[in-house]
Amino acid sequence: MASLHVLEHPLIQHKLSLMRNKNTGSKEFRELLEEIAMLMAYEVTRDFPLKEIEVETPICVMKTKVLAGRKVGVVPILRAGLGMVDGILNLIPAARVGHVGLYRDPETLEPVEYYCKLPNDVQERELIVIDPMLATGGSASAAITFLKQRGCSHIKLVCLIAAPEGVARVRKAHPDVDIFVAAMDECLNDHGYIVPGLGDAGDRLFGTK
Ligand code: PRP
Ligand code: URA
Repeated sequence: MASLHVLEHPLIQHKLSLMRNKNTGSKEFRELLEEIAMLMAYEVTRDFPLKEIEVETPICVMKTKVLAGRKVGVVPILRAGLGMVDGILNLIPAARVGHVGLYRDPETLEPVEYYCKLPNDVQERELIVIDPMLATGGSASAAITFLKQRGCSHIKLVCLIAAPEGVARVRKAHPDVDIFVAAMDECLNDHGYIVPGLGDAGDRLFGTK
């Protein structure tokens, strides 16, 4: 069984508190999400393998280490996952980006796919699936299923805020996928929103409400 990682770094917690505040506007919300995504990427890549190489410094030749593992793919779940892409690319600039478009049907709360465009060699990549909100877990679970149906097997899920229901659903459907979150919240309300959460991440990012 893969692990659930709650990233409690003080900078992440501080920035997340600012994002939760309903008076924080879209510009600051976007900047904070990008910054947190970058900080989370630092932890998410902690187990990436290294290999030894030889480098000549201005002083002498030395043995040192560089990344040796699979190439990386970043897969935002549209729309709100887009807000985390640049933060991750700041740390992993060579990563390719694949997009999976899903929205939650407001009645059933089940995800509906409307877009999918992935790198050609997606199966060979270490994939980081990103979405700020893990509520019922329907969207993340479906996105991971799509990736597995296309042959992907090395997948991590990175979310800002999770509800226990969402974590349980993803873990049940995808026990092989490590989940990284900045906060575990209390529960879902009757509309499937995370409590206390931060509201609708997509609307707050893009100013659509
Ligand atoms: C939000 C969020 C997740 C999903 C989480 O997206 O960004 O994708 O809800 O809910 P779930 O865990 O219950 O599936 P939404 O469907 O509102 O679409 P948007 O990103 O386009 O706003
Ligand atoms: N999607 C959001 O944007 N926020 C929630 O709290 C739940 C789903």
